[in-house]
Amino acid sequence: MYSENHFNSIDWRELPPAPPDGEPDRQYYFMARCRRKVEEFERENGRRPTANVTTFGCQMNARDSEKLAGILRAVGYEIVGTEDADFVIYNTCTVRDNANQKVYGRLGVLNGYKRRNPRMKIALCGCMMQEPEVLEKIRASYRFVDLIFGTHNLFKFAELLDTVLEEQGRVVDLWKDTDQIVEELPVERKYPFKSGINIMFGCDNFCSYCIVPYVRGRERSRQPEEILREIRRLAEDGVVEVMLLGQNVNSYGKGLERPLSFAELLREVEKIEGIRRIRFMTSHPKDLSDELIAVMRDSEKICHHLHLPLQSGSTRILRAMNRRYTKEQYLELAEKLRREIPDIAITTDIIIGFPGETMEDVEETLDVIRRVRFDNAFTFLYSKRTGTPAASMENQVPEEQARAGFDRVLKLVQETAREQTARWQGQVCEVLVEGQNESDPSLVTGRMSNNTLVHFPGGRELIGQLVPVSLEECCGFYYLGHRRETV
Ligand code: 5AD
Ligand code: SF4
Repeated sequence: MYSENHFNSIDWRELPPAPPDGEPDRQYYFMARCRRKVEEFERENGRRPTANVTTFGCQMNARDSEKLAGILRAVGYEIVGTEDADFVIYNTCTVRDNANQKVYGRLGVLNGYKRRNPRMKIALCGCMMQEPEVLEKIRASYRFVDLIFGTHNLFKFAELLDTVLEEQGRVVDLWKDTDQIVEELPVERKYPFKSGINIMFGCDNFCSYCIVPYVRGRERSRQPEEILREIRRLAEDGVVEVMLLGQNVNSYGKGLERPLSFAELLREVEKIEGIRRIRFMTSHPKDLSDELIAVMRDSEKICHHLHLPLQSGSTRILRAMNRRYTKEQYLELAEKLRREIPDIAITTDIIIGFPGETMEDVEETLDVIRRVRFDNAFTFLYSKRTGTPAASMENQVPEEQARAGFDRVLKLVQETAREQTARWQGQVCEVLVEGQNESDPSLVTGRMSNNTLVHFPGGRELIGQLVPVSLEECCGFYYLGHRRETV
Protein backbone atom coordinates (compact mmCIF):
# COMPACT_ATOMS: atom_id res chain seq x y z
CA MET A 1 0.00 0.00 0.00
CA TYR A 2 0.97 3.59 -0.50
CA SER A 3 3.33 5.02 2.00
CA GLU A 4 3.69 8.77 2.32
CA ASN A 5 7.24 8.09 3.58
CA HIS A 6 8.09 6.24 0.43
CA PHE A 7 6.94 9.15 -1.70
CA ASN A 8 8.61 11.76 0.48
CA SER A 9 11.91 9.88 0.41
CA ILE A 10 12.16 10.73 -3.29
CA ASP A 11 13.98 13.97 -3.93
CA TRP A 12 11.59 15.12 -6.57
CA ARG A 13 13.40 18.36 -7.30
CA GLU A 14 16.48 16.45 -8.43
CA LEU A 15 14.79 13.72 -10.42
CA PRO A 16 17.04 11.65 -12.65
CA PRO A 17 16.29 12.07 -16.37
CA ALA A 18 15.01 8.51 -16.71
CA PRO A 19 12.55 6.66 -14.46
CA PRO A 20 13.56 3.58 -12.45
CA ASP A 21 12.80 0.22 -14.05
CA GLY A 22 10.69 -1.60 -11.49
CA GLU A 23 7.15 -0.96 -10.25
CA PRO A 24 5.84 0.74 -8.21
CA ASP A 25 8.98 2.94 -8.10
CA ARG A 26 8.51 3.96 -11.69
CA GLN A 27 5.05 5.32 -10.85
CA TYR A 28 6.39 7.21 -7.83
CA TYR A 29 8.88 8.87 -10.16
CA PHE A 30 6.04 10.04 -12.39
CA MET A 31 3.97 11.12 -9.41
CA ALA A 32 6.90 13.34 -8.44
CA ARG A 33 6.99 14.82 -11.93
CA CYS A 34 3.24 15.46 -11.82
CA ARG A 35 3.62 17.10 -8.44
CA ARG A 36 6.04 19.61 -9.97
CA LYS A 37 3.54 20.42 -12.70
CA VAL A 38 0.77 20.86 -10.18
CA GLU A 39 2.94 23.31 -8.23
CA GLU A 40 3.60 25.22 -11.42
CA PHE A 41 -0.15 25.45 -12.01
CA GLU A 42 -0.61 26.73 -8.48
CA ARG A 43 2.02 29.45 -8.95
CA GLU A 44 0.42 30.59 -12.20
CA ASN A 45 -3.22 30.49 -11.06
CA GLY A 46 -3.03 31.20 -7.36
CA ARG A 47 -4.94 27.99 -6.57
CA ARG A 48 -4.49 24.24 -6.72
CA PRO A 49 -5.91 22.50 -9.79
CA THR A 50 -9.10 20.54 -9.22
CA ALA A 51 -9.83 16.97 -10.24
CA ASN A 52 -13.01 14.95 -10.51
CA VAL A 53 -13.26 11.16 -10.64
CA THR A 54 -16.64 9.87 -11.83
CA THR A 55 -17.41 6.18 -11.55
CA PHE A 56 -19.84 4.11 -13.59
CA GLY A 57 -20.62 0.49 -12.81
CA CYS A 58 -19.69 -1.97 -10.13
CA GLN A 59 -17.79 -2.15 -6.83
CA MET A 60 -14.61 -3.07 -8.71
CA ASN A 61 -14.77 0.17 -10.60
CA ALA A 62 -15.49 2.07 -7.39
CA ARG A 63 -12.33 0.58 -5.92
CA ASP A 64 -10.31 1.44 -9.04
CA SER A 65 -11.59 5.01 -8.78
CA GLU A 66 -10.24 5.22 -5.25
CA LYS A 67 -6.83 4.35 -6.71
CA LEU A 68 -7.14 7.09 -9.35
CA ALA A 69 -8.20 9.61 -6.73
CA GLY A 70 -5.33 8.47 -4.48
CA ILE A 71 -2.79 9.36 -7.14
CA LEU A 72 -4.45 12.66 -8.02
CA ARG A 73 -4.51 13.66 -4.37
CA ALA A 74 -0.89 12.54 -3.82
CA VAL A 75 0.33 14.75 -6.66
CA GLY A 76 -1.53 17.76 -5.27
CA TYR A 77 -4.92 17.97 -6.95
CA GLU A 78 -7.92 19.07 -4.97
CA ILE A 79 -10.56 16.36 -5.44
CA VAL A 80 -13.97 17.89 -6.16
CA GLY A 81 -17.50 16.63 -6.75
CA THR A 82 -18.21 18.85 -9.76
CA GLU A 83 -17.22 17.82 -13.27
CA ASP A 84 -16.40 21.47 -14.04
CA ALA A 85 -12.81 20.77 -12.98
CA ASP A 86 -9.26 21.04 -14.35
CA PHE A 87 -8.93 17.28 -14.71
CA VAL A 88 -11.91 14.95 -15.15
CA ILE A 89 -11.68 11.21 -15.44
CA TYR A 90 -14.59 8.87 -16.20
CA ASN A 91 -14.05 5.32 -15.03
CA THR A 92 -16.44 3.55 -17.37
CA CYS A 93 -18.53 0.36 -17.41
CA THR A 94 -19.72 -1.60 -20.42
CA VAL A 95 -21.63 -4.52 -18.94
CA ARG A 96 -24.85 -3.27 -20.55
CA ASP A 97 -25.29 -0.84 -23.42
CA ASN A 98 -27.10 1.78 -21.32
CA ALA A 99 -23.87 2.24 -19.33
CA ASN A 100 -22.10 3.21 -22.57
CA GLN A 101 -24.88 5.56 -23.63
CA LYS A 102 -24.64 7.38 -20.31
CA VAL A 103 -20.96 8.07 -20.91
CA TYR A 104 -21.51 9.41 -24.42
CA GLY A 105 -24.28 11.68 -23.15
CA ARG A 106 -22.21 13.14 -20.36
CA LEU A 107 -19.17 13.68 -22.56
CA GLY A 108 -21.17 16.36 -24.38
CA VAL A 109 -21.55 18.26 -21.11
CA LEU A 110 -17.81 17.94 -20.40
CA ASN A 111 -17.03 19.43 -23.78
CA GLY A 112 -19.04 22.50 -22.76
CA TYR A 113 -16.89 22.92 -19.64
CA LYS A 114 -13.72 22.48 -21.68
CA ARG A 115 -14.67 25.27 -24.06
CA ARG A 116 -14.72 27.63 -21.09
CA ASN A 117 -11.56 26.15 -19.53
CA PRO A 118 -9.14 25.28 -22.36
CA ARG A 119 -6.55 23.95 -19.89
CA MET A 120 -9.01 21.30 -18.80
CA LYS A 121 -7.98 17.69 -19.47
CA ILE A 122 -10.51 14.91 -20.00
CA ALA A 123 -9.61 11.27 -19.44
CA LEU A 124 -11.54 8.03 -20.00
CA CYS A 125 -10.60 4.66 -18.58
CA GLY A 126 -12.18 1.38 -17.51
CA CYS A 127 -14.04 -1.46 -19.17
CA MET A 128 -15.68 0.46 -22.01
CA MET A 129 -12.27 1.54 -23.33
CA GLN A 130 -11.24 -2.09 -23.86
CA GLU A 131 -13.74 -2.34 -26.71
CA PRO A 132 -12.28 -1.53 -30.14
CA GLU A 133 -15.53 0.00 -31.50
CA VAL A 134 -15.68 2.38 -28.56
CA LEU A 135 -12.15 3.54 -29.17
CA GLU A 136 -12.93 4.13 -32.82
CA LYS A 137 -16.02 6.14 -31.98
CA ILE A 138 -14.20 8.31 -29.46
CA ARG A 139 -11.30 8.91 -31.82
CA ALA A 140 -13.67 10.02 -34.54
CA SER A 141 -16.40 11.91 -32.69
CA TYR A 142 -15.02 12.98 -29.31
CA ARG A 143 -11.79 14.70 -30.25
CA PHE A 144 -11.68 16.72 -27.05
CA VAL A 145 -10.81 13.62 -24.99
CA ASP A 146 -7.12 13.89 -23.96
CA LEU A 147 -6.34 10.53 -22.38
CA ILE A 148 -7.66 7.01 -22.89
CA PHE A 149 -6.51 3.90 -21.09
CA GLY A 150 -8.09 0.60 -20.05
CA THR A 151 -8.44 -1.85 -17.22
CA HIS A 152 -5.06 -3.59 -17.46
CA ASN A 153 -2.78 -0.59 -17.06
CA LEU A 154 -4.57 1.44 -14.40
CA PHE A 155 -1.44 1.13 -12.26
CA LYS A 156 0.30 3.30 -14.89
CA PHE A 157 -2.04 6.23 -14.27
CA ALA A 158 0.69 8.51 -12.81
CA GLU A 159 2.85 7.96 -15.87
CA LEU A 160 -0.03 8.64 -18.26
CA LEU A 161 -1.07 11.72 -16.32
CA ASP A 162 2.47 13.05 -16.58
CA THR A 163 2.45 12.53 -20.35
CA VAL A 164 -0.91 14.19 -20.84
CA LEU A 165 0.09 17.20 -18.73
CA GLU A 166 3.29 17.52 -20.76
CA GLU A 167 1.93 17.08 -24.25
CA GLN A 168 -0.67 18.61 -26.44
CA GLY A 169 -2.71 16.01 -28.28
CA ARG A 170 -4.25 12.78 -27.28
CA VAL A 171 -2.62 9.96 -25.35
CA VAL A 172 -4.00 6.44 -25.87
CA ASP A 173 -2.62 3.43 -24.03
CA LEU A 174 -4.61 0.21 -24.22
CA TRP A 175 -3.42 -3.27 -23.32
CA LYS A 176 -5.15 -6.46 -24.41
CA ASP A 177 -4.42 -8.30 -21.17
CA THR A 178 -1.89 -8.51 -18.37
CA ASP A 179 -0.73 -10.85 -15.66
CA GLN A 180 0.86 -7.97 -13.78
CA ILE A 181 -0.48 -6.89 -10.38
CA VAL A 182 1.23 -3.77 -9.03
CA GLU A 183 0.99 -3.31 -5.26
CA GLU A 184 1.67 -0.36 -2.98
CA LEU A 185 0.19 2.57 -4.86
CA PRO A 186 -1.82 5.36 -3.22
CA VAL A 187 -5.53 4.89 -2.52
CA GLU A 188 -8.00 7.53 -1.45
CA ARG A 189 -10.78 5.81 0.47
CA LYS A 190 -14.29 7.13 0.13
CA TYR A 191 -15.29 5.97 3.62
CA PRO A 192 -12.97 6.01 6.65
CA PHE A 193 -14.67 2.99 8.28
CA LYS A 194 -15.19 0.58 5.39
CA SER A 195 -13.25 -0.42 2.34
CA GLY A 196 -13.27 -2.71 -0.68
CA ILE A 197 -10.22 -4.89 -1.28
CA ASN A 198 -9.47 -6.55 -4.59
CA ILE A 199 -8.63 -10.18 -4.04
CA MET A 200 -8.62 -11.13 -7.71
CA PHE A 201 -8.96 -9.59 -11.13
CA GLY A 202 -10.59 -10.72 -14.35
CA CYS A 203 -12.93 -13.62 -15.05
CA ASP A 204 -12.54 -16.98 -16.80
CA ASN A 205 -16.15 -18.08 -16.82
CA PHE A 206 -17.24 -16.78 -20.18
CA CYS A 207 -20.96 -16.68 -19.54
CA SER A 208 -22.21 -16.31 -23.09
CA TYR A 209 -23.87 -12.89 -22.60
CA CYS A 210 -21.07 -11.28 -20.64
CA ILE A 211 -18.39 -8.94 -21.89
CA VAL A 212 -16.41 -8.91 -18.63
CA PRO A 213 -13.92 -11.68 -19.56
CA TYR A 214 -13.05 -9.73 -22.73
CA VAL A 215 -12.56 -6.36 -21.04
CA ARG A 216 -11.14 -7.45 -17.69
CA GLY A 217 -8.96 -10.28 -18.95
CA ARG A 218 -8.02 -13.63 -17.46
CA GLU A 219 -8.64 -14.47 -13.85
CA ARG A 220 -5.67 -13.84 -11.54
CA SER A 221 -5.56 -13.84 -7.75
CA ARG A 222 -3.56 -11.54 -5.53
CA GLN A 223 -1.11 -13.16 -3.14
CA PRO A 224 -2.83 -13.85 0.20
CA GLU A 225 0.00 -12.14 2.12
CA GLU A 226 -0.57 -8.93 0.13
CA ILE A 227 -4.31 -9.04 0.79
CA LEU A 228 -3.86 -9.69 4.51
CA ARG A 229 -1.21 -6.98 4.82
CA GLU A 230 -3.55 -4.48 3.15
CA ILE A 231 -6.41 -5.41 5.48
CA ARG A 232 -4.18 -5.20 8.58
CA ARG A 233 -3.16 -1.69 7.59
CA LEU A 234 -6.78 -0.74 6.93
CA ALA A 235 -7.74 -2.04 10.38
CA GLU A 236 -4.97 0.04 11.97
CA ASP A 237 -6.39 2.98 10.08
CA GLY A 238 -9.85 2.54 11.63
CA VAL A 239 -11.60 0.40 9.02
CA VAL A 240 -14.12 -1.99 10.62
CA GLU A 241 -15.80 -3.45 7.55
CA VAL A 242 -14.08 -4.96 4.53
CA MET A 243 -15.60 -6.11 1.26
CA LEU A 244 -13.48 -8.65 -0.60
CA LEU A 245 -13.91 -8.04 -4.32
CA GLY A 246 -13.66 -10.30 -7.35
CA GLN A 247 -15.82 -11.29 -10.33
CA ASN A 248 -15.97 -14.79 -8.92
CA VAL A 249 -14.52 -14.89 -5.41
CA ASN A 250 -15.33 -18.58 -4.99
CA SER A 251 -12.58 -19.53 -7.38
CA TYR A 252 -10.02 -17.40 -5.52
CA GLY A 253 -6.51 -18.83 -5.24
CA LYS A 254 -6.59 -21.34 -8.07
CA GLY A 255 -3.59 -20.02 -9.98
CA LEU A 256 -1.40 -19.28 -6.97
CA GLU A 257 1.91 -21.08 -6.41
CA ARG A 258 0.58 -22.28 -3.07
CA PRO A 259 -3.15 -22.62 -3.75
CA LEU A 260 -5.44 -21.39 -1.00
CA SER A 261 -9.22 -21.61 -1.10
CA PHE A 262 -11.49 -18.62 -0.64
CA ALA A 263 -12.80 -20.16 2.58
CA GLU A 264 -9.23 -20.42 3.89
CA LEU A 265 -8.57 -16.81 2.97
CA LEU A 266 -11.71 -15.77 4.88
CA ARG A 267 -10.48 -17.64 7.96
CA GLU A 268 -7.27 -15.62 7.84
CA VAL A 269 -9.11 -12.31 7.37
CA GLU A 270 -11.31 -13.20 10.32
CA LYS A 271 -8.23 -13.29 12.60
CA ILE A 272 -7.35 -9.65 11.93
CA GLU A 273 -7.99 -7.57 14.99
CA GLY A 274 -10.15 -4.49 14.52
CA ILE A 275 -12.07 -5.90 11.56
CA ARG A 276 -15.64 -6.43 12.75
CA ARG A 277 -17.46 -7.25 9.52
CA ILE A 278 -16.43 -9.11 6.39
CA ARG A 279 -18.38 -9.03 3.14
CA PHE A 280 -17.57 -10.38 -0.30
CA MET A 281 -18.80 -10.08 -3.85
CA THR A 282 -19.55 -11.84 -6.24
CA SER A 283 -20.12 -15.58 -5.82
CA HIS A 284 -20.76 -17.95 -8.69
CA PRO A 285 -23.21 -20.73 -7.75
CA LYS A 286 -21.14 -23.39 -9.53
CA ASP A 287 -18.16 -22.80 -7.21
CA LEU A 288 -19.87 -22.23 -3.87
CA SER A 289 -18.38 -24.86 -1.57
CA ASP A 290 -19.71 -26.51 1.59
CA GLU A 291 -16.47 -25.36 3.20
CA LEU A 292 -17.43 -21.73 2.50
CA ILE A 293 -20.94 -22.21 3.89
CA ALA A 294 -19.45 -23.70 7.06
CA VAL A 295 -16.98 -20.83 7.44
CA MET A 296 -19.79 -18.32 7.02
CA ARG A 297 -21.98 -20.16 9.51
CA ASP A 298 -19.29 -20.41 12.18
CA SER A 299 -17.83 -16.95 11.77
CA GLU A 300 -18.44 -14.04 14.13
CA LYS A 301 -17.50 -11.52 11.48
CA ILE A 302 -18.63 -12.71 8.06
CA CYS A 303 -21.90 -10.97 7.27
CA HIS A 304 -24.96 -13.12 6.74
CA HIS A 305 -25.49 -11.92 3.20
CA LEU A 306 -24.74 -13.75 0.00
CA HIS A 307 -25.07 -12.27 -3.46
CA LEU A 308 -25.61 -15.30 -5.65
CA PRO A 309 -26.49 -14.40 -9.24
CA LEU A 310 -29.15 -16.71 -10.64
CA GLN A 311 -29.38 -15.07 -14.11
CA SER A 312 -32.19 -17.44 -15.15
CA GLY A 313 -34.36 -20.10 -13.53
CA SER A 314 -34.60 -22.15 -16.71
CA THR A 315 -32.06 -24.96 -17.06
CA ARG A 316 -32.27 -24.68 -20.84
CA ILE A 317 -31.39 -20.98 -20.77
CA LEU A 318 -28.73 -21.53 -18.11
CA ARG A 319 -27.08 -24.01 -20.45
CA ALA A 320 -27.15 -21.50 -23.31
CA MET A 321 -25.72 -18.92 -20.93
CA ASN A 322 -22.85 -21.32 -20.10
CA ARG A 323 -23.57 -20.97 -16.39
CA ARG A 324 -22.79 -24.62 -15.60
CA TYR A 325 -25.57 -25.27 -13.07
CA THR A 326 -29.21 -26.30 -13.36
CA LYS A 327 -32.34 -24.85 -11.82
CA GLU A 328 -32.42 -27.76 -9.37
CA GLN A 329 -28.80 -27.31 -8.35
CA TYR A 330 -29.41 -23.63 -7.64
CA LEU A 331 -32.52 -24.42 -5.59
CA GLU A 332 -30.64 -27.04 -3.59
CA LEU A 333 -27.84 -24.61 -2.89
CA ALA A 334 -30.23 -21.91 -1.71
CA GLU A 335 -32.02 -24.42 0.50
CA LYS A 336 -28.74 -25.56 2.03
CA LEU A 337 -27.76 -21.94 2.72
CA ARG A 338 -31.06 -21.18 4.44
CA ARG A 339 -30.84 -24.39 6.45
CA GLU A 340 -27.27 -23.81 7.64
CA ILE A 341 -27.56 -20.04 8.16
CA PRO A 342 -31.25 -19.29 8.87
CA ASP A 343 -30.85 -15.50 9.09
CA ILE A 344 -28.93 -15.22 5.81
CA ALA A 345 -30.07 -12.76 3.15
CA ILE A 346 -29.74 -14.12 -0.37
CA THR A 347 -29.68 -11.54 -3.15
CA THR A 348 -29.33 -12.11 -6.86
CA ASP A 349 -29.04 -10.85 -10.44
CA ILE A 350 -31.54 -11.88 -13.10
CA ILE A 351 -31.40 -11.30 -16.86
CA ILE A 352 -34.61 -11.30 -18.87
CA GLY A 353 -34.73 -11.51 -22.66
CA PHE A 354 -31.68 -13.72 -23.27
CA PRO A 355 -31.76 -15.14 -26.84
CA GLY A 356 -34.29 -17.93 -27.15
CA GLU A 357 -36.03 -17.19 -23.86
CA THR A 358 -39.75 -18.00 -23.97
CA MET A 359 -42.54 -17.19 -21.53
CA GLU A 360 -42.15 -20.76 -20.20
CA ASP A 361 -38.54 -19.98 -19.33
CA VAL A 362 -39.66 -16.81 -17.56
CA GLU A 363 -42.14 -18.98 -15.62
CA GLU A 364 -39.21 -21.10 -14.45
CA THR A 365 -37.42 -17.96 -13.25
CA LEU A 366 -40.56 -16.83 -11.41
CA ASP A 367 -40.75 -20.27 -9.82
CA VAL A 368 -37.19 -19.98 -8.48
CA ILE A 369 -37.92 -16.50 -7.10
CA ARG A 370 -40.98 -17.85 -5.28
CA ARG A 371 -39.06 -20.78 -3.85
CA VAL A 372 -35.80 -19.08 -2.88
CA ARG A 373 -37.54 -15.90 -1.68
CA PHE A 374 -34.72 -13.55 -2.57
CA ASP A 375 -34.13 -10.76 -0.09
CA ASN A 376 -33.32 -8.48 -3.00
CA ALA A 377 -32.75 -8.90 -6.71
CA PHE A 378 -31.31 -6.79 -9.50
CA THR A 379 -33.21 -7.40 -12.70
CA PHE A 380 -31.74 -6.56 -16.09
CA LEU A 381 -33.05 -6.59 -19.62
CA TYR A 382 -30.65 -8.60 -21.75
CA SER A 383 -28.25 -6.30 -23.56
CA LYS A 384 -26.45 -7.52 -26.66
CA ARG A 385 -22.68 -7.10 -26.26
CA THR A 386 -20.62 -7.26 -29.43
CA GLY A 387 -18.06 -10.05 -29.38
CA THR A 388 -19.91 -12.30 -26.92
CA PRO A 389 -21.32 -15.66 -28.13
CA ALA A 390 -24.89 -14.64 -27.27
CA ALA A 391 -24.70 -11.60 -29.56
CA SER A 392 -24.49 -13.85 -32.60
CA MET A 393 -27.25 -16.23 -31.52
CA GLU A 394 -30.06 -16.16 -34.03
CA ASN A 395 -33.09 -16.22 -31.76
CA GLN A 396 -32.81 -12.73 -30.23
CA VAL A 397 -35.95 -11.87 -28.24
CA PRO A 398 -38.10 -8.94 -29.42
CA GLU A 399 -37.91 -6.05 -26.97
CA GLU A 400 -41.66 -6.03 -26.32
CA GLN A 401 -41.64 -9.67 -25.24
CA ALA A 402 -38.57 -9.14 -23.07
CA ARG A 403 -40.21 -6.16 -21.38
CA ALA A 404 -43.36 -8.13 -20.63
CA GLY A 405 -41.26 -10.81 -18.92
CA PHE A 406 -39.18 -8.18 -17.17
CA ASP A 407 -42.25 -6.50 -15.65
CA ARG A 408 -43.53 -9.78 -14.23
CA VAL A 409 -40.16 -10.68 -12.76
CA LEU A 410 -39.67 -7.23 -11.28
CA LYS A 411 -43.10 -7.27 -9.64
CA LEU A 412 -42.48 -10.64 -8.01
CA VAL A 413 -38.97 -9.83 -6.76
CA GLN A 414 -40.28 -6.62 -5.22
CA GLU A 415 -43.08 -8.43 -3.42
CA THR A 416 -40.73 -11.14 -2.19
CA ALA A 417 -38.07 -8.66 -1.09
CA ARG A 418 -40.68 -6.70 0.91
CA GLU A 419 -41.86 -9.83 2.69
CA GLN A 420 -38.32 -10.96 3.37
CA THR A 421 -37.31 -7.58 4.77
CA ALA A 422 -40.30 -7.66 7.13
CA ARG A 423 -38.90 -10.82 8.76
CA TRP A 424 -36.85 -8.76 11.21
CA GLN A 425 -39.66 -6.57 12.55
CA GLY A 426 -39.38 -6.08 16.31
CA GLN A 427 -35.85 -7.47 16.64
CA VAL A 428 -32.77 -5.63 17.86
CA CYS A 429 -29.86 -5.81 15.41
CA GLU A 430 -26.35 -4.48 15.16
CA VAL A 431 -26.12 -1.68 12.59
CA LEU A 432 -22.96 -0.14 11.12
CA VAL A 433 -23.71 3.57 10.80
CA GLU A 434 -22.66 4.82 7.38
CA GLY A 435 -23.80 8.43 7.30
CA GLN A 436 -26.37 11.06 7.99
CA ASN A 437 -29.77 10.55 6.37
CA GLU A 438 -29.93 12.66 3.23
CA SER A 439 -33.51 13.85 3.59
CA ASP A 440 -33.70 14.09 7.40
CA PRO A 441 -30.47 15.18 9.15
CA SER A 442 -31.84 14.17 12.56
CA LEU A 443 -31.49 10.54 11.41
CA VAL A 444 -28.47 8.41 10.61
CA THR A 445 -28.39 5.53 8.15
CA GLY A 446 -26.67 2.21 8.52
CA ARG A 447 -26.72 -1.39 7.43
CA MET A 448 -27.51 -4.62 9.19
CA SER A 449 -25.20 -7.61 8.76
CA ASN A 450 -27.56 -8.86 6.03
CA ASN A 451 -27.22 -5.52 4.21
CA THR A 452 -30.71 -4.16 5.02
CA LEU A 453 -30.80 -0.37 5.45
CA VAL A 454 -31.89 1.10 8.78
CA HIS A 455 -32.59 4.75 9.65
CA PHE A 456 -32.75 5.95 13.26
CA PRO A 457 -32.35 9.15 15.28
CA GLY A 458 -28.69 9.93 16.00
CA GLY A 459 -25.81 12.30 15.34
CA ARG A 460 -22.79 12.29 13.06
CA GLU A 461 -20.57 11.04 15.88
CA LEU A 462 -22.09 7.58 15.35
CA ILE A 463 -20.74 7.29 11.81
CA GLY A 464 -18.44 4.27 11.56
CA GLN A 465 -19.77 2.72 14.77
CA LEU A 466 -21.63 -0.55 15.24
CA VAL A 467 -24.69 0.12 17.38
CA PRO A 468 -27.69 -1.98 18.46
CA VAL A 469 -30.93 -0.72 16.93
CA SER A 470 -34.49 -1.90 17.45
CA LEU A 471 -36.23 -2.48 14.11
CA GLU A 472 -39.60 -0.90 14.72
CA GLU A 473 -41.17 -0.05 11.40
CA CYS A 474 -40.54 -1.91 8.18
CA CYS A 475 -41.03 0.46 5.23
CA GLY A 476 -40.66 -1.81 2.22
CA PHE A 477 -36.93 -2.27 1.78
CA TYR A 478 -35.69 -0.50 4.91
CA TYR A 479 -36.42 -0.05 8.60
CA LEU A 480 -37.02 2.86 10.93
CA GLY A 481 -35.83 2.24 14.46
CA HIS A 482 -34.24 3.49 17.65
CA ARG A 483 -30.87 2.99 19.25
CA ARG A 484 -30.75 0.46 22.10
CA GLU A 485 -28.15 -0.30 24.75
CA THR A 486 -27.56 -3.95 23.84
CA VAL A 487 -28.43 -6.45 21.14
N1 5AD B 1 -27.17 -8.03 -20.45
C1 5AD B 1 -27.86 -7.84 -19.31
N2 5AD B 1 -27.33 -8.03 -18.10
C2 5AD B 1 -26.05 -8.44 -18.02
N3 5AD B 1 -25.26 -8.69 -16.96
C3 5AD B 1 -24.05 -9.05 -17.43
N4 5AD B 1 -24.03 -9.01 -18.77
C4 5AD B 1 -25.27 -8.64 -19.16
C5 5AD B 1 -25.88 -8.44 -20.42
N5 5AD B 1 -25.22 -8.62 -21.57
C6 5AD B 1 -25.72 -8.65 -15.59
C7 5AD B 1 -25.59 -10.02 -14.93
C8 5AD B 1 -24.48 -9.83 -13.95
C9 5AD B 1 -24.62 -8.38 -13.61
C10 5AD B 1 -23.41 -7.75 -13.01
O1 5AD B 1 -24.91 -7.77 -14.84
O2 5AD B 1 -26.81 -10.28 -14.26
O3 5AD B 1 -24.59 -10.66 -12.83
FE1 SF4 C 1 -19.59 -12.16 -16.48
FE2 SF4 C 1 -20.17 -14.68 -15.81
FE3 SF4 C 1 -17.72 -13.63 -15.25
FE4 SF4 C 1 -19.90 -12.78 -13.90
S1 SF4 C 1 -19.05 -14.87 -13.87
S2 SF4 C 1 -18.26 -11.51 -14.81
S3 SF4 C 1 -21.49 -12.87 -15.45
S4 SF4 C 1 -18.57 -14.00 -17.29
